[in-house]
Amino acid sequence: MKITVIGTGFVGVVTAAVYASFGHEVVGLDIDEKKIDSLRHSKVPFYEPNLEELLVHTQKEGKLTFTTSYKDAITDSDVIVVAVGTPSAADGNADLRFVFAASESAAPYLKEQAVVVIKSTVPPGTLPKVEEHIKKYTKVDFATASVPEFLKEGTAVHDTLHPDRIVIGATKEYAFSVLADLHKPLQAPIIRISPESAQMAKYAANAYLATRITFINQIADLCEKNGADVQEVIDAISEDKRVGGHYWYPGFGYGGSCFPKDVKELAHYSRSVGEDGNLFNKIHELNEYRISKLLDQYGQEIGGFEEKTVAVLGLSFKPNTDDMREAPSVKVIPYLLSKGAKVQGFDPKALPVVKYFIPDDKNVSYHETITAACKGADIIIALIEWSEIVAFDFAKVRENKKQIFIDARNQFEKKQIEKLGYQYFGVGR
Ligand SMILES: NC(=O)c1ccc[n+]([C@@H]2O[C@H](COP(=O)([O-])OP(=O)(O)OC[C@H]3O[C@@H](n4cnc5c(N)ncnc54)[C@H](O)[C@@H]3O)[C@@H](O)[C@H]2O)c1
Repeated sequence: MKITVIGTGFVGVVTAAVYASFGHEVVGLDIDEKKIDSLRHSKVPFYEPNLEELLVHTQKEGKLTFTTSYKDAITDSDVIVVAVGTPSAADGNADLRFVFAASESAAPYLKEQAVVVIKSTVPPGTLPKVEEHIKKYTKVDFATASVPEFLKEGTAVHDTLHPDRIVIGATKEYAFSVLADLHKPLQAPIIRISPESAQMAKYAANAYLATRITFINQIADLCEKNGADVQEVIDAISEDKRVGGHYWYPGFGYGGSCFPKDVKELAHYSRSVGEDGNLFNKIHELNEYRISKLLDQYGQEIGGFEEKTVAVLGLSFKPNTDDMREAPSVKVIPYLLSKGAKVQGFDPKALPVVKYFIPDDKNVSYHETITAACKGADIIIALIEWSEIVAFDFAKVRENKKQIFIDARNQFEKKQIEKLGYQYFGVGR
């Protein structure tokens, strides 16, 4: 099968490499020449474990190529996978410009019975619009389908090779059959539903996980008021099989390239269909103000941040990625600077991209080691649970002065940190 993946971002590159590993002829297509040039040399322009190895392997086998030419990429392709970005517009609406532009650019080169798959996260009702855009530029018979992506950055290759399920929202029989065949090697349950259900399923999955995070943060806030420890509460509720023990992350709220955007888009969608009181409006609002609420609270307890040196450990939105889209650090660092603090940041992978997310400031510096970032710190914020941060011996950076340790993801034992002489603050404990 010849497959073209349009958009070689996090989702597109992983998808292209995995399809190529099944032996298909795969072309990765992007308008970003720098990115394509780098991918041609098997260099992934972001950090994702195991991806480079898969790229090298599939390129060596001659199964995966990259181009910026729509004509070369689309001509003769059986399946065209659209994996371009769908950022939220200012009002929260999903901005589908890239999806429509990619569809239109591909249209003139589509062959008969080509299947155009929308992998980007899009609201229900998008496929007919995509078809309208394509039909402006072709007369061939083609099919569209929605195959949402559920991978997680940091484990994207593993997730794509071992998915929990493949969701195929296709109306035409031949499109479903081609896509079911394509995903057969994954040996995952294939769920055939309508395109609208597939699109809602993607939003529902992310909105549920975001809600779980917001829910436990709400419980954490109440624990703060009564001496309960949210981690103990989690232990207790996890034993209830209806609740379960997975995915409890009390802390500074959810971030990343998907949850904030998808919840915002679902909230916007709810308003656009007259469901103004929909829960996701509130979830979005609670998460939006989570970080300033917590920092205001810590600030009050520790006598403010002014003229304090603060080590911020973990700048990416979660461990094992250098993605800083909607990372907590992007709010935490400007907040601290605005309160007159001096910030010293550390991250194992994200330092090269920090400048694209946090404006330069004379009071902020970034460091290659935890030790350097903690030098002279009055306050240490363990923001993201990178294993090197969680495993670090904070006795090594204990200085002969009062030091505060803020455990933003409840990764440390309060007593152990206190034993080192730090004043400990967690979340909801
Ligand atoms: N990143 C994730 O973890 C993740 C997980 C599941 C779903 N998704 C969804 O997948 C989609 C892609 O996300 P991403 O994180 O990979 O995005 P990304 O921003 O990393 O990559 C998008 C790529 O599309 C390219 N592009 C834009 N317009 C184009 C065009 N007209 N033609 C060719 N290329 C074009 C960009 O240059 C960029 O390289 C989004 O809808 C996102 O919500 C992302």
